[in-house]
Amino acid sequence: MDDRLYELIYTLAEKHSLSLEEYQYLIDHRTEEAASLLAKEAAIISKRIYGNLIFTRGLIEISNICKNDCLYCGIRRSNKNCVRYRLMPEQILDCADEGHILGFRTFVLQGGEDGYYTDELLCQIISEIKRRHPDSAVTISMGERGKQSFRRMYDAGADRYLLRHETADRTHYMRLHPSEMSFEHRMQCLQDLRDIGYQVGCGFMVGSPYQMSGHLARDLKFIEEFLPDMCGIGPFIPHHDTPFCNEPAGTLELTCYLLSIIRLIHPPVLLPATTALGTIDPKGREKGIQAGANVIMPNLSPVGVRKQYELYDNKICTGEESAQCRHCLDHRMRSIGYELAVDKGDIRK
Ligand code: 5AD
Ligand code: FES
Repeated sequence: MDDRLYELIYTLAEKHSLSLEEYQYLIDHRTEEAASLLAKEAAIISKRIYGNLIFTRGLIEISNICKNDCLYCGIRRSNKNCVRYRLMPEQILDCADEGHILGFRTFVLQGGEDGYYTDELLCQIISEIKRRHPDSAVTISMGERGKQSFRRMYDAGADRYLLRHETADRTHYMRLHPSEMSFEHRMQCLQDLRDIGYQVGCGFMVGSPYQMSGHLARDLKFIEEFLPDMCGIGPFIPHHDTPFCNEPAGTLELTCYLLSIIRLIHPPVLLPATTALGTIDPKGREKGIQAGANVIMPNLSPVGVRKQYELYDNKICTGEESAQCRHCLDHRMRSIGYELAVDKGDIRK
């Protein structure tokens, strides 16, 4: 490993900040040795703050109906082969009840931008989950909405909001999204969510089409400046019914490398080892945890609809019951010396 790389890693571990150009150097000149060193430092920091506990979020995929047409996504509106569904409030509440019995204390309502879920309906669902499970957090991940809408959901009891920024580079953003979507609006949503008082999650895909190391450096700089409470990163995986069907997937190696860097940039950040990471490698989630991730988001959706929430090909855990996933992950985490927490899992600042 060259001296500069070595220096940058230690500067990052101490100062939690590098210049754009330095982030890019760290990415361009990476070696296996640098990756091990970063992972080691990241795991030390993560253990210092959270011990060997891994937080779980029960993911309820409430709808695969979406008005957007993101070029990478399997549930984009132009995909006529996608069999659409939406869950009714009772079904969502049943998933949360089952999850609570299994030990989940955070429920993530995720879906496409589906106009069926008005503010009023979402607020009813949120407040009912909070009424039944006052010890739990509710996270919303339903895409871009207006500030009033975010505020109403917050007032109804929503604690957190996940909205990946997808890429911090405007030109790159435009190559991944149709022209009616705007980079500025997405970033504005993140700021609005923060201003309202949510714990906010951003994030991006690793290895998305046209992505270069300079774009990733900008993602890292954005994370350093925004200091999100959560950050979701996973490899891009092509979906057969999208314009990016023939593009190569992102790698396990680069995703883990970036997870370690993000842990060093923002030590308390809640960082999931994503399902996409588990999809490109059978031990992907374990490797993500060992690189510095500390959150796992198992699926709580009804088994009947899981295959339909197909953002990318070959997604794992689409045939298993919720309890099976929880137990499987419990086992997987123990095998690497970690333990699933039964805890809301707020960020420790
Ligand atoms: N590969 C990997 N991740 C994807 N997402 C959407 N499509 C894909 C894909 N093909 C991610 C996006 C989105 C999140 C819910 O899933 O980053 O924000
Ligand atoms: Fe779902 Fe292992 S986590 S089966």
